[in-house]
Amino acid sequence: MNDDAVLQAPLFAAIDEDASRALLRTMERIDLPRGRAVFREGDPGDRLYVIGAGSVKLGRRAPDGRENLLSVLGPGEMFGELSLFDPGPRTATATAVNDALLFELSHAELIDWIGEHPPVATHLLQALAHRLRRTNEAMGDLVFADVPGRVAKALLDLSTRFGEPAEDGLRVAHGLTQEELAQLVGASRETVNKALADFTSRGWLRREGRAVVLLDIERLERRAK
Ligand code: CMP
Repeated sequence: MNDDAVLQAPLFAAIDEDASRALLRTMERIDLPRGRAVFREGDPGDRLYVIGAGSVKLGRRAPDGRENLLSVLGPGEMFGELSLFDPGPRTATATAVNDALLFELSHAELIDWIGEHPPVATHLLQALAHRLRRTNEAMGDLVFADVPGRVAKALLDLSTRFGEPAEDGLRVAHGLTQEELAQLVGASRETVNKALADFTSRGWLRREGRAVVLLDIERLERRAK
């Protein structure tokens, strides 16, 4: 496990390394196997999580059973803070997409930590503002962008978290099934598949199971606009 990834989390921003590592040592480590949920939408919640390794999807379920993914988070990202800042039940279900290592902090400990290190509050606000910006954009895209545009955007977004240089492009091991990718884009699996097949035939990407290799990022970016 690479502690450096965890220490990138907003919780540790602007804090010296010794203090950050001291807090990290007090946080409980949780191994979350692929497919296991750490909490469910509607649960009461009093702790937040920082991802040390692997990835976690945040999903909501409609009354008719359909699922929608709000986001897929990777190392150094945090979740479970909303029920602290806006007390209430969990707003989404958090499930490991790949085997994940999480660090858990109780809301009470977080409040103490912010009290000892006030600049942390600014970084947490920044992370929340960034999330709101992305959510607004995704909402606009649902109304204004077509499915291929949304697929291109989702892949580019995933590449910022999970992208690694490959010989011929950027390999994005997102770990999502086709169904999950469709839930993230907010479209049917068939339509998302069609868009992926079209991008593949144009030479913009290559599919490799639960990963894609982005071959022509410039074209994908243009398609995502
Ligand atoms: P909480 O409501 O405690 O539990 C579910 C978590 O999902 C929530 O805190 C946030 O951390 C996270 N979450 C909710 N909505 C979004 C979103 N739109 N984008 C990314 N993460 C979210």
